[in-house]
Amino acid sequence: MASNVVIMAAGKGTRMKSALPKVLHELAGRSLLQHVLAAGAQLGAGRTVLITGHGADAVEAAASAASPGTLFARQMPQLGTGHAVQQAVPLLDDTLATTLILNGDVPLIQAATAAALVHACGGEKLALLTITLPDATGYGRIVRDAQGVRAIVEHKDATPAQREIREIYTGIMAAPTALLKRWVMALKDDNVQREFYLTDIVAMAVAEGVPVVTASAGSETEVLGVNSPVQLADLERRYQRAQAEALMEAGVRLADPARLDVRGRLTCGSDVEIDVNCVFEGEVVLADGVQIGANCVIRDARIGAGAVVHPFTHIEGATVGASALVGPFARLRPGAELGEEVHIGNFVEVKNSTLAKGAKANHLAYLGDASVGERVNFGAGSITANYDGANKHRTVIGADVHVGSNCVLVAPVTLGEGATIGGGSTIVKDAPAGQLTVARAKQVSLAGWARPRKTPR
Ligand code: UD1
Ligand code: CA
Repeated sequence: MASNVVIMAAGKGTRMKSALPKVLHELAGRSLLQHVLAAGAQLGAGRTVLITGHGADAVEAAASAASPGTLFARQMPQLGTGHAVQQAVPLLDDTLATTLILNGDVPLIQAATAAALVHACGGEKLALLTITLPDATGYGRIVRDAQGVRAIVEHKDATPAQREIREIYTGIMAAPTALLKRWVMALKDDNVQREFYLTDIVAMAVAEGVPVVTASAGSETEVLGVNSPVQLADLERRYQRAQAEALMEAGVRLADPARLDVRGRLTCGSDVEIDVNCVFEGEVVLADGVQIGANCVIRDARIGAGAVVHPFTHIEGATVGASALVGPFARLRPGAELGEEVHIGNFVEVKNSTLAKGAKANHLAYLGDASVGERVNFGAGSITANYDGANKHRTVIGADVHVGSNCVLVAPVTLGEGATIGGGSTIVKDAPAGQLTVARAKQVSLAGWARPRKTPR
């Protein structure tokens, strides 16, 4: 059901002790704000109004980039959550009967939970998302009597008896748009904090006979707020644990679910094994039977079936073919495309290069802007010199070429099929197919040469 969505994000986030506005801190690779905007977007067409204040320029820029079309209402100064919603009033779409209110610092709210709340409101009732906590300290309490919900009382304003209540307001509600507008404009700040409390609209609804209903949050995790680095880290671990469990449910074998970080989306085939301390960022796809060794960082990559990525490998923007072996200590940079059964060994860097089936660079090498044919063997310590200080050039290596150790291939240059390049060569001209090309000083031995001796004093 389409609705207005108001996201409150004007607060300072003092306890983060950071120059960065709180809602721009990241959880699982995305800002808190992006998580909330994504939940709002999943609800379907509607209008989203973001309340900004502290760090408004940066927050608005981030929101526009993540969700074009977001409207902004600035709240200066910040006089409370009711005052925040007052700023959104002129921007609400009156044709949308329901307005959903989300908190910018409650990032893991599930779209299904928010949708259920919007449904419960139905443009007629005031629907509150609540949860019962073992320790409700600091939260607004849900005060009920025989007729149902009567009010929300903020912790600081609560009587000792009310402080015993463990059902709390999560900060998320759905209200009839027209009533919400009238109610927030009528709020007073006659409370302990001298703030305009949005939560006071509950008593207003009760007084007018508007039904107040509650829906409960699916889990504590989806309504936990982030106020401090400790809470941010706690929520990150809960989120990562949930992702690890989902992967394991799907059959992925994780050496330790507590030592996995997915900051984006990780898609796995069957019989995938992931060792400890791996970080996956962006969109990563691991095909059937892939094995990832310990301490790998893999971002925006596709790893083919049966490929093995050994420990301490860094992969970004690359494709790895089936049954390839990569690492340990390898680096695949953007545009590295490895075919089937390619071997990339320790301290080998590959950038913007294609390696055809069975090509190998096993030790200490650099391949940049190169096309490497099938079964090529690229020797230890050899590099493509692809950059002349101004422009980049390509190196083309035909099938079955054997490049010895410590060669420099000065691009642009082409090595014909089956060519052999002698170790230590600096190749500045094309090398013909099938021949041995050597480009280094000839070895000489001087008979009768004597080593210098220390002169006696
Ligand atoms: C609020 C609720 C409380 C609830 C709790 C859940 C009120 C009065 N109280 O309390 O019942 O249990 O959330 O976490 O609403 N904000 C603004 N402008 C302001 C003040 C706040 O935009 O002037 C934003 C903050 O950036 C934050 C959100 O509103 O995203 C909540 O504000 P916060 O001060 O954390 O509310 P609580 O006191 O925790
Ligand atoms: Ca507060």
